[in-house]
Amino acid sequence: MPQNEHLILRELLAREGGWVSGAALARRLGLSRVGVWQRMERLRAAGFTLEAKRARGYRLVHAPEQLYPALVETLLRGRPRGFSLLVLDEVDSTNDEVLRQLAAGRPTPFAVLARRQTQGRGRFGRSWHSASPANLYASFGFRPRVPPARMPLFTLWMGVNLCELLGHFAPEAPRLKWPNDLVYGSRKAGGMLTEARIDADQIRDLVFGVGLNVNTPPDAWPADLARRAVSLGQIAGRPVDLNRLAAALIGRVLLAYTAFVEDRHREGFAERWHRHDLLRGRAVTLLEGGRRHHGTVVGLDEEGALLLRDEAARLHRFRAGEVTVEREP
Ligand code: BTN
Repeated sequence: MPQNEHLILRELLAREGGWVSGAALARRLGLSRVGVWQRMERLRAAGFTLEAKRARGYRLVHAPEQLYPALVETLLRGRPRGFSLLVLDEVDSTNDEVLRQLAAGRPTPFAVLARRQTQGRGRFGRSWHSASPANLYASFGFRPRVPPARMPLFTLWMGVNLCELLGHFAPEAPRLKWPNDLVYGSRKAGGMLTEARIDADQIRDLVFGVGLNVNTPPDAWPADLARRAVSLGQIAGRPVDLNRLAAALIGRVLLAYTAFVEDRHREGFAERWHRHDLLRGRAVTLLEGGRRHHGTVVGLDEEGALLLRDEAARLHRFRAGEVTVEREP
């Protein structure tokens, strides 16, 4: 059935709402026409709206709004060999599930997506609001075998790629708030959480987690997030297709990862970061190890550290920390 389901979905999607002949599908799948009809009924039960007409066949009117694994897989183009996808209804944290899968020896690369998380995690041990299946919770498992010194640029490089991708799903791309936030103005549309296990002098396990606020309506955020969060759908003024976004995200992350491992990410990185950078030229406070530092953001150094100029024009370099924008330049 899964292969049949992919094939049916591929045919329906390729017609972009046009008709697919039931007889032709039956021939291709080696099924009876009743067999095709049964599969269509299963898709209907899963949330697809399909129209059927005697002389014309079937057409796809509406795909499910929630994540649907076979649809994500069908929409994935250029999937690298060996990639596998796990879509769960609910999990504690997709990052934790990837860690468990890596420990159990699952071949990489793979991705874990969930409709909900019960213990979604953000930076500094904070929780990530993960109750809504209208949003995307995704984590990727890799075994890059690169020296740890390469890692500081990883999340920043992924951030640039995600901004560029999201610019195709909303009228404007989000900005990057160093090091891991995707924002529109002062509101967060997404965040990244990278976790690595180091073996001697190499990265053994690498988990890259992304949370994207996709279709949560403005009045549905919990009170503490209402002023700080925004969804792509709000920015776009209409719902964003979650399954298409999931497939595009997977494709882009895998491409970006390959470029990173092959050391092809450096060229042009600074310019691409600059294009999406929220902070350059802004007066900020950076909290690091319990200390507050004030200054104006100058940019990033080659290793991805944030450069701040203080009031005495001294330059300071930070590899980690939490930034708050103080005021406009
Ligand atoms: C942050 O902004 O602090 C990072 C948020 C990262 C959230 C994502 S949701 C998918 C993955 N699973 C988690 O538990 N966290 C990341």
